[in-house]
Amino acid sequence: MFTLLIKPYLSARTHALLPSPILLRSLIQVIPSSSSLSLTIAVSFSSLPFVERFHLSPAPTMSPPELDVASLLLLIPRTALSPILAVALIAFSVLCFFPGGIVWAFSKAHVRSIPGPPGFVSALSGSAAHRVLAGLAHSLNAVDLMAFSVGFTRFVVSSHPDTAKEILNSSAFADRPIKESAYELLFHRAMGFAPFGEYWRNLRRISSTYLFSPRRIAAFGEHRRVVGEKMVADVRDLMAKHGVMEVKKVLHFGSLNNVMMSVFGKRYDFGRGEGLELEGLVKEGYELLGLFNWGDHFPLLGWLDLQGVRKRCRSLVKRVNAFVGSIIEEHKKGRTDGSLVDGKGDFVDVLLGLEKEEKLSDADMVAVLWEMIFRGTDTVAILLEWIMARMVLHPDIQSKAQCEIDAAVGRSRAVCDADIVNLPYLQAIVKEALRMHPPGPLLSWARLAVHDVHVGDHFIPAGTTAMVNMWSITHDESIWSESSEFKPERFVEEDVSILGSDLRLAPFGAGRRVCPGKAMGLAAVHLWLAQLLQCFEWVPAECGVDLAERLKMSLEMEKPLVCKAIARN
Ligand code: HEM
Repeated sequence: MFTLLIKPYLSARTHALLPSPILLRSLIQVIPSSSSLSLTIAVSFSSLPFVERFHLSPAPTMSPPELDVASLLLLIPRTALSPILAVALIAFSVLCFFPGGIVWAFSKAHVRSIPGPPGFVSALSGSAAHRVLAGLAHSLNAVDLMAFSVGFTRFVVSSHPDTAKEILNSSAFADRPIKESAYELLFHRAMGFAPFGEYWRNLRRISSTYLFSPRRIAAFGEHRRVVGEKMVADVRDLMAKHGVMEVKKVLHFGSLNNVMMSVFGKRYDFGRGEGLELEGLVKEGYELLGLFNWGDHFPLLGWLDLQGVRKRCRSLVKRVNAFVGSIIEEHKKGRTDGSLVDGKGDFVDVLLGLEKEEKLSDADMVAVLWEMIFRGTDTVAILLEWIMARMVLHPDIQSKAQCEIDAAVGRSRAVCDADIVNLPYLQAIVKEALRMHPPGPLLSWARLAVHDVHVGDHFIPAGTTAMVNMWSITHDESIWSESSEFKPERFVEEDVSILGSDLRLAPFGAGRRVCPGKAMGLAAVHLWLAQLLQCFEWVPAECGVDLAERLKMSLEMEKPLVCKAIARN
């Protein structure tokens, strides 16, 4: 439209540009005079943005263009609808420039109260969303709270401990926005995405009593140790075969088996049969949940399912139902009434034993069990991979931790759960890794405002998605001195709780929806790190260590850690 309309009236200089793809980006200046009109506009020419002055004047042999002023500004041909269209387009462009973007402009919030970038923010679809949002918040002076829009979704993000605490601890934000993949994968019936209410409360109560209680976690100590020993054996094998090893594979399978044992009471061999199928299900599920689905924010795109998310989810759910359903059936057949009383039952037994109003349908049970596999495996394995990368990069820190293990445990016996309390430096390493590489830099799953609420002085309307940029907080120089340095010593000097009470470092979230598996996850990370450090010295391979990140469902190392593990005598 732009090209067709003004082409005949342009001077030769501008004319030359027109056959190429030109996109009008924004109008900067208009200077009308009696015989001509100067427009300074930002255009994209073959995708290169630049500012150009167009001088519109009638060519001598042509009659002047029939345009009214409003239409001319937007270069719309004159029709009966043109003034309305022009006004609508002007209004749309103005709304796009509101702080926080167009969805905030339409909200009942006072538009100027929360700073934020205009237009639509596409950062969430990228692999460094936490960094882009942190950069925007600092540059717009919006660290406390920043508003932005993605499609038709209204967001706020906190990059400060005070507002983060308000959001995470407020009952107004006790719900989660549910994305299509989570819904299609049944997670709305599991704890993480279940709406705040009786059903969710029931799931939290059951899991904190039977899966995450200190007694249950301690009861699984021996099993954790066996999983750790298997990892050590796998590392030895890989080193003997290849002379180098990819750490993540060993950690991922160990972590998956750990969860499978606590939840399903079963271990798998991932090279074949059921183990292979399980690995395939988990991989596809991670990919789907980690994918940014434009359809979640643009309803039309959601309906069209252009990314094929719905289709893939539905096919995955069939396989998950068959796999988890068969495990539930096995448990139903083999269940004895005494299994829970003597504390030997796994989590499937617990769910099958629930009575009356606590009782879950088979479909709900599949959802709950399936979610545990997802939440429990990935986070732990990824955190440990970051820690091992740091051990390879900082031999001084590694050897300090090994000296601590040697002093507290010795070399003649294997380290076990009970030793962890005597390894404060090792615990400080884990805290420092959680600070520098939080597995959920945006706390993985956001919160949803269930009713209108204030955060600080800012009014947040119901339906707003609220996020906490924990990565931004843990990398803020005004909160953490030398924030880009890996220094576990900082946690020896100051004991900072990481379980949700101190929002300077809350990698497990906080408030009602804080991670229920935090103690279980930490128990595994501490023990396996101690085992891996007791048995090997970790040194770089020829490829070195690349700390580049990629945000998927969790914050992963973009290039998996490949290194050497040399047996310690
Ligand atoms: C290093 C390990 C882990 C990290 C960093 C982590 C992190 C998180 C975070 C940030 C949240 C959101 C909290 C919030 O909204 O305030 C969360 C929720 C959750 N996590 Fe974890 N997690 C870990 C391990 C685990 C494990 C081992 C399990 C279970 C086996 C688990 C199960 C869950 C569940 C079910 C939720 C949803 C809770 C709800 O919405 O009520 N997590 N986790």
